Amino acid sequence: MGQVHSEILPGRVQSSNMSDYTQAVANFKWEDVERNFSWYDTGKVNMAHEAVDRHVQEGRGAATALLYSDAVRDESYTFADLQERSNRFGNVLRKYGIGKGDRVFIFMPRQPELYFSLLGILKIGAIAGPLFEAFMETAVKDRLEDSGAVALVTTPELLHRVKRDELPNLRHIFLVGGTTDIEQGNLGFTEEMANASSELELEWLDLDDGLIMHYTSGSTGKPKGVYHVQRAMIQHYYTGRVVLDLRPDDIYWCTADPGWVTGTSYGIFSPWLNGVTNVVRGGRFSPQDWYKTIERNKVSIWYSAPTAFRMLMGAGESSIQGIDLSSLRHVLSVGEPLNPEVVRWGDKFYNQRIHDTWWMTETGAQLICNYPGMDIKPGSMGRPLPGIEAAILDDRGNVLPPFSMGNLAIRTPWPSMMNSIWNNPTKYEEYFRIPGWYMSGDSAYMDDDGYFWFQGRIDDVINSSGERIGPFEVESKLVEHPAVAEAGVIGKPDLVRGEIIKAFISLREGYTPTAALKEEIAAFVKAGLSAHAAPREIEFKDKLPKTRSGKIMRRVLKAWELHLPTGDLSTIED
Ligand code: PRX
Repeated sequence: MGQVHSEILPGRVQSSNMSDYTQAVANFKWEDVERNFSWYDTGKVNMAHEAVDRHVQEGRGAATALLYSDAVRDESYTFADLQERSNRFGNVLRKYGIGKGDRVFIFMPRQPELYFSLLGILKIGAIAGPLFEAFMETAVKDRLEDSGAVALVTTPELLHRVKRDELPNLRHIFLVGGTTDIEQGNLGFTEEMANASSELELEWLDLDDGLIMHYTSGSTGKPKGVYHVQRAMIQHYYTGRVVLDLRPDDIYWCTADPGWVTGTSYGIFSPWLNGVTNVVRGGRFSPQDWYKTIERNKVSIWYSAPTAFRMLMGAGESSIQGIDLSSLRHVLSVGEPLNPEVVRWGDKFYNQRIHDTWWMTETGAQLICNYPGMDIKPGSMGRPLPGIEAAILDDRGNVLPPFSMGNLAIRTPWPSMMNSIWNNPTKYEEYFRIPGWYMSGDSAYMDDDGYFWFQGRIDDVINSSGERIGPFEVESKLVEHPAVAEAGVIGKPDLVRGEIIKAFISLREGYTPTAALKEEIAAFVKAGLSAHAAPREIEFKDKLPKTRSGKIMRRVLKAWELHLPTGDLSTIED
């Protein structure tokens, strides 16, 4: 069995020197990363073993794995504690006939039980599906239905959003903080855990067996279930070393919720594969609370997102006064373009360069990054990791020279690349329409030092506060409102949130366009889908621009909004 931290890991770029990077790229072999895992010899793998049990077996069971706090709880768990809790939950699931390949979803706010259950699901070879706590009825139902989830871990507070009558596959609901009620079909999490054995026979898996699903949005259709397999751990481990720069004594804090991919790949897998202490802070964002979290836990590595950094910046210098942030050694960002002003704010007030990283739900892990020690060009996403080849392609798949804007594409495959889109091979294939490449849907250019610069999305996907929203899902909800005849949704540029959701709506006959109606419609989306999917702005129009085949032309709506020329209108209806 290998060491968690081998002395030299391939792909580590030691300095800002360009030749050092070139050499790391030339010498890199994924196989050298794989040698760090026991399955390199046995061929059999399990993420929960590598992230938890292995540390116990190798004598690190007493090390702190999880530091959890919120307004009322303040708890600490070792790797041995995680092993025991996840074993119990694995046994609970088995007792109800759940096993390898079954989808088990988790719908609850961040709290230790979320982490215990997710690891327990993985231990028996089931596939975990975390859902963001803000999802409302329709969003929850769509995801549980599409995945065919057989069990759900949730809380009594969120239970009313689960339409179990409409979900025939959903056989078991475990309630964290609730009690068993056989008639209702609910099982009390605490009771079940207490009755289960703490010894478990692990389900050994193959590298291509399932790990996790995250639903994410495209510009058309309902959210897609992005399905990842065990193999992803190679890259979660590797990027933890070379990008997050995790070292054995680090206290690491990823601010993302496990309902999104950052909160699992980098809020669970990467830190625990690397055996470091993982901080989880429950409750809502506030600048004071966040700074105190860093100070109190002596966080050394902090991974967050541009909207959060902009909000912290907006709270001003006074919010940092009297707080000791000197424990920080490395700060990173993901999810949206990181403005150069924010990088400069970090330089000045955190005494840290904020390192941007680029990746997507579909890519499973970081691909283009600023590494520790590297020369950062504020505004650039950085360079491809050793082991990853990125390029800018035109629409026909030709590689474009530096400074040409085009499709950001990645050479296939890489270890954490999605394995499929659940129930939707056609969608999956669209990403790989150019042989040998994954098409990200982002547009970017590369400079002559090989740094990549994000330009925007090629499709209509909206990125608001780092959350990816599909206009179609919002439009579908909007037209369910009795007053709405048609709706088109776009992202409108916003200084803090990157983009906000704006809806253009034409009303049915008999409805008057009033401010009260706008509020009512926004509240309707909020109650049905989720707060982050609700339009912050609504504009009523007599008619929306449509193609002859009846598709709303979001591109024209966007041009209206930004006062830009509307471009080619030859396909417009009239
Ligand atoms: O448009 C890019 C943007 O977020 C998209 C991926 O969103 P999601 O799947 O929700 O994953 C977010 C966290 C991994 C990308 O297609 N994006 C992500 N990182 C950056 C970014 N845009 C600019 N700069 C980044 N560093």
